Amino acid sequence: MADLAELALEARGLSAGYGRVQVLRDVNLTVRPGEVVALLGPNGAGKTTLLRTLAGYLRPAGGEVLLFGASCGRMPVYKRCRQGVSFMGEERHVFPGLTVRQSLRLVRAQGEQAALFPALADRARHRGALLSGGEQQMLALTLALARKPRLLLIDELSLGLAPLVRERLLDTVRTTADTGVGVLVVEQNARSVLDRADRAYVMRRGEVVEERPADHWRADLDGLAALYLS
Ligand SMILES: Nc1ncnc2c1ncn2[C@@H]1O[C@H](COP(=O)(O)OP(=O)(O)O)[C@@H](O)[C@H]1O
Ligand SMILES: [Mg+2]
Repeated sequence: MADLAELALEARGLSAGYGRVQVLRDVNLTVRPGEVVALLGPNGAGKTTLLRTLAGYLRPAGGEVLLFGASCGRMPVYKRCRQGVSFMGEERHVFPGLTVRQSLRLVRAQGEQAALFPALADRARHRGALLSGGEQQMLALTLALARKPRLLLIDELSLGLAPLVRERLLDTVRTTADTGVGVLVVEQNARSVLDRADRAYVMRRGEVVEERPADHWRADLDGLAALYLS
């Protein structure tokens, strides 16, 4: 079981950007083991920039990131992976030239792990590049989980995918968290993600403007919409 006293992830006063362009300002955020935390906010709010900074692809200009209770400073991406961080970026992370079966074998996904999505079983001999968007994302999530992460960072889980696929992916995210994995997920469909999340942060213009339990947001979707629109 995960140590619930220890945070899976903490950002403290984090700032980051691109060259001289500052995007993130003083971002404070936590994810506990076993928690699904939604990261919401309009386009351009800085969600992708934040995830990329947490995953180690972008260097913070200020503040710090702590993984599993320890400051990770300038720790490179691969070391964060070794610590148990799995990052699914906006582009679909599948092996385009490998079949589903080969991909699963490569990451040593077996049994239940390999069979997370029954829809993929029918596609065992299809190459990653030839799968539908939904199948690619189901495979990407399967591959990310095969590494047995302790922290999962997901950008735009269901962008462009059918509602049924989105629900299926989100259900898997929830059951994964229930095994003790911390999850930070960006998802455009606020209602769907709030149905499975414990808490949600809303970002605007590079800042976290509000954090509340998911059920508070669900009861105040108008208030949430106002944050997007104002
Ligand atoms: N590679 C980049 N170079 C410069 N500015 C960028 C780059 N990527 C994103 N930005 C800017 O950073 C801001 C936040 O973008 P992003 O993190 O992609 O937001 P979100 O994921 O919430 O839509 C935007 O103003 C965007 O124009
Ligand atoms: Mg984005």
